[in-house]
Amino acid sequence: NFALGMTLGLALFLIGAGAVHWARTLMSDHEIPAERHPIEADDEVRADVIEQFRTGAAESGFGRRKMIRNTLIGSMALVPLSGVVLLRDLGPLPEDKLEHTGWEEATDAKPLQLINMNTNQPMKAEDIITGSLTFAMPEGLSTHDEDFQQRIAKDALMLVRIAPENIKDDKSKEKGFEGILAYSKICTHVGCPISLYEQQTHHALCPCHQSTFD
Ligand code: FES
Repeated sequence: NFALGMTLGLALFLIGAGAVHWARTLMSDHEIPAERHPIEADDEVRADVIEQFRTGAAESGFGRRKMIRNTLIGSMALVPLSGVVLLRDLGPLPEDKLEHTGWEEATDAKPLQLINMNTNQPMKAEDIITGSLTFAMPEGLSTHDEDFQQRIAKDALMLVRIAPENIKDDKSKEKGFEGILAYSKICTHVGCPISLYEQQTHHALCPCHQSTFD
């Protein structure tokens, strides 16, 4: 990954440097009017070019040298395979892992405690004040875990507390606890963590591309 990143970065830098050099040294700053002329060559010139092309092809024997022709076609057909190597480098397919979160481990017999992501302490309902936005993760998850990033990318929660009479959606009213509502912190657009909450309008905002959730 490091080598890919470095070479990609270097390649983009050199393309940029080339473009700047091109603009500075090769392109004139002065406006130069150029009269239009027909782009198409006349029939005689075109016939001449086609004739030369045919003669060249016949003289090179390309059409008859099947091995050269076939290996050229074969090598061009193999070019897309390099894309497979690049795609494989993205890692194994996620299968159905993205459809499950750590919260599914909670059962009635063994509920999962919510851990405040800022203080790393278990949360109590009275800690969550009306109008606030708090972030939580399931107990048992530690920043020292090897797979912490993968798990938190699915398990992060945002908790808001709204005065119950201000909750308009019946389902939320039913599922919440004394106005405390929990949602995934992961934006449904391309997965940035949502981090802003507007307590007057009860809108949560994703800073990446300004998606707003009611
Ligand atoms: S990822 Fe949230 S708006 Fe794009």
